[in-house]
Amino acid sequence: MMFATTSLGGLVLIAAVASSFDLNNFDQLAAAKKSADKRIVIKNLVVPAGQKLDLTNLQDGTVIEFAGRVTFGYQEWDGTMIQVKGKNIKVVGKPGNLIDGEGHRWWDKKGGNGGKKKPRFMEVNLEDSLVTGLNIKNPPRHCFVANYCKNVRIEYVNIDIKDGDTKGAHNTDGFGVGGSQNVTVANCKVHNQDDCFCTGSGSDTVFENNECTGGHGISIGSMGNGQKVERVRVRNCKIIRNTNGIRIKSRKGETGLVRDVSFENIELKDISKFGIIIQANYLNGGPKGDPTPFPMENIVIKNVRGTVSRKGTNIQVWVAPGSAKNWQWNSSVTGGQREVACKGVPQGINIPCGKK
Ligand SMILES: *[C@@H]1O[C@H](CO)[C@@H](O)[C@H](O)[C@H]1NC(C)=O
Ligand SMILES: *[C@@H]1O[C@H](CO)[C@@H](O)[C@H](O)[C@H]1NC(C)=O
Repeated sequence: MMFATTSLGGLVLIAAVASSFDLNNFDQLAAAKKSADKRIVIKNLVVPAGQKLDLTNLQDGTVIEFAGRVTFGYQEWDGTMIQVKGKNIKVVGKPGNLIDGEGHRWWDKKGGNGGKKKPRFMEVNLEDSLVTGLNIKNPPRHCFVANYCKNVRIEYVNIDIKDGDTKGAHNTDGFGVGGSQNVTVANCKVHNQDDCFCTGSGSDTVFENNECTGGHGISIGSMGNGQKVERVRVRNCKIIRNTNGIRIKSRKGETGLVRDVSFENIELKDISKFGIIIQANYLNGGPKGDPTPFPMENIVIKNVRGTVSRKGTNIQVWVAPGSAKNWQWNSSVTGGQREVACKGVPQGINIPCGKK
């Protein structure tokens, strides 16, 4: 903030003028973060290859505006391309902004499992903060994670990795939330090739009014390492042409907890593998044998509806006996012809498993 003072024949007018630090040269990053304006406008910035757009150590109350296009030099490395960390921060995408990873330079169908070393795209570690209006395109792999956040709202973020459908993108997870409390992701769109949304630890997470296209669905887990997920609300979402609709999964032989999770008013369309799957024997590459005990308590499935394609399965539950407690279930998922029996369903609830 800058104060402009004008003197008009003895009358003094004082007007607050919002001033900002325009960051369009990467060399000025450190100066931008120290600027007394506490408003950084990132405009048509080129981030050099192998370097992070390091927006950590921000002053409390900083506003970061993305305007124009931000691009990145190409290098194989396994860091994070953008990191934002601070308290009482606003990250705002102005109309027409585009953060363009140009991920096709790394895509080789292998994602994080080999091939070219691919950086992760964006990580935020925020408290009492807002992220709004970002347009993100074509990250090399995992797109946006909120780690160790508290009281953060992420809204109107558009993650567009449509190009990856035909150009070899893999593991392009949309949103991940971990180790956080009270994070809401709302009014966002994701078109990708892995989980649309995933959380594996933390509490009071909300994912609402979002649309997922092309990916692997909305997922809790895979759980393990003693991690706990408590109080997650997923509601009013559309999941279109994903491999799965909604999932809760824990890995075999692992400890942890999933408690107080609800999926409400979820519309599924053309899901290819599982409309709803809850499993405690997850292994990347396919479940192997009987699940081990893993508490999954107070799970609510309410008005989850829509279609699975012919070769898919509408609903599968496979958890160890006694692990599932206090579930409520109301779904209408149809179309999948591959029938699988459910195992470990809590007594007294009626899940339409094994139905076409
Ligand atoms: C949760 O975070 C939001 C900001 O996204 C904040 O407005 C709200 O007060 C927080 N809730 C609690 C209980 O702290
Ligand atoms: C399930 O949800 C549908 C649609 O919201 C509703 O009409 C129906 O009564 C519900 N069934 C039960 C058993 O709650």
